[in-house]
Amino acid sequence: MVLRSPERSDAHAVHGLIQQCPPLDLNSVYTYLLLSEHFADTCLVALRGGQLDGFVSAYLPPQKTDVLFVWQVAVHQRARGLGLGGHLLRSLLARPAARQARYVETTVGPDNASSRRMFQGLAGHLNAPMHESLLFDRSLFGPSAHEDERLIRIGPF
Ligand SMILES: CC(C)(COP(=O)(O)OP(=O)(O)OC[C@H]1O[C@@H](n2cnc3c(N)ncnc32)[C@H](O)[C@@H]1OP(=O)(O)O)[C@@H](O)C(=O)NCCC(=O)NCCS
Repeated sequence: MVLRSPERSDAHAVHGLIQQCPPLDLNSVYTYLLLSEHFADTCLVALRGGQLDGFVSAYLPPQKTDVLFVWQVAVHQRARGLGLGGHLLRSLLARPAARQARYVETTVGPDNASSRRMFQGLAGHLNAPMHESLLFDRSLFGPSAHEDERLIRIGPF
């Protein structure tokens, strides 16, 4: 398994992976190009045998420089349940670009059990508390059906 920062040439494959990973919102290929262009230091792709098995996108919010905000984590069906999701998160935190982070924040849908377990596992690994609150109420998404996005905050670590 190779873990590295995404490159421009990965954007189309990342888009294809996200498409196969509900309930994640599918963003445009252009969004994934921007992530590889401007946020590559805080994103990772996981490749095995040339196939894209995993992806995580994150950034340091400009007003909260001690926070690493994890945007999307995706593991292909063929690679699930093997610890890759947790491995991607821990590897991201070990990178120089995340050195200043004392908190990890992310949003998780109320029914996403695997994602919740993954972030609980990260909190355990970091020996840090985990706090949950509502960030984006479903009404903010307009008429399209969308779940609440609940903020999970892990830290300080
Ligand atoms: C969430 C996701 C990234 C997890 O990837 P993964 O590589 O299978 O995760 P891990 O193997 O590291 O497992 C993390 C934990 O979740 C648990 N888990 C895995 N699948 C589960 C499921 N379907 N239901 C409940 N728990 C589950 C694992 O047992 C593990 O817990 P443990 O450490 O206590 O044993 C993957 O399921 C996925 O891509 N889902 C679709 C997209 C998504 O929801 N992304 C997260 C939102 S940002």
